[in-house]
Amino acid sequence: MTMKGLYVGIDLGGTKIAGALVDRDGSILRRIRLETRVEQGPQAVIDRLVESIDQLMDGVRSTVKGVGVASPGPLDSRSGVVFSPPNLPGWVNVPLRQALEDRLGIPVKLENDANAAAWGEYRFGAGQRKGTMIYLTVSTGVGSGLVLDGRLFRGENTFAGEIGHTIVDPEGPPCGCGRQGCLEALASGTAIAKLGQTADPSSSIHSLAAEDGGVVRAEHVFQAYRMGDAHAENIIRQTVRYLAIGLSNLIHIFNPGKIVVGGGVSRAGDVLFPLLQEQLDRYLMAPFRETCEVVPAALGEDAGVLGAAALWTDCGQQVVAGEPA
Ligand code: BGC
Repeated sequence: MTMKGLYVGIDLGGTKIAGALVDRDGSILRRIRLETRVEQGPQAVIDRLVESIDQLMDGVRSTVKGVGVASPGPLDSRSGVVFSPPNLPGWVNVPLRQALEDRLGIPVKLENDANAAAWGEYRFGAGQRKGTMIYLTVSTGVGSGLVLDGRLFRGENTFAGEIGHTIVDPEGPPCGCGRQGCLEALASGTAIAKLGQTADPSSSIHSLAAEDGGVVRAEHVFQAYRMGDAHAENIIRQTVRYLAIGLSNLIHIFNPGKIVVGGGVSRAGDVLFPLLQEQLDRYLMAPFRETCEVVPAALGEDAGVLGAAALWTDCGQQVVAGEPA
């Protein structure tokens, strides 16, 4: 194992805590994965984070230069405080960076999970060779990371990119953030599962779920779609339509060369991508249609950890508004 500087990347954005020990070229030397158990509250999650990071650093602690942590937002990456993420119930203004630094004695950087994954894909995955790229994650939540002209864009207070909480239907369902009609409330994995649960009893969504633990998940809706189930088709078409509305708004504003789509729902890419392309063709103005490619993420669940670790190695390339380049 190289004894040059090493970094730890952690991603709290998925259903599990994902962590990796990484070198400065983005090679993963060790991995760890464990249940997040968000329902136990922030302190228990912090304990598990410390435990994972300690395990990753075992025997090489003195060569670890820094830890990057990707967490669902909204959060302030400068102060290291996580506000009240819709998908981290019970978290209110948690000083995550400070808490980890105090326990680990190693410097920590905090980043929004979608931003970290965007940077991971931009540096090492599907977003390479494009100056302006948008990463979209569709999983429990919906989020995006904006790489604009080669720099991760965070905005004035580091909150930028919250596409999941842009309103795409003012009369839409309530969102975990407390408002209504957000893209996340209409098109996340959680939203697809909810629609599946209330689908007509004759839908094969229910029989698929019954054979697989009993609780309807987004993947059952996709499976039913593949079997030609009309109820599943309505749900998926409606979901993708909202995703295309959200994305087309970003595309018109930022003119990305690529949209990289990741997150759990993107695993149903065979269904998702053709429909998304069809809907984007409908919502985009001609020049944007021809200049923006929509591709699946290349790094899967590694995008977040690689991007979080690279926060340490890429500081020079990454300019935060308000900080010197
Ligand atoms: C949060 C985002 C996050 C996304 C995916 C959303 O609910 O507001 O910050 O990137 O979920 O985890």
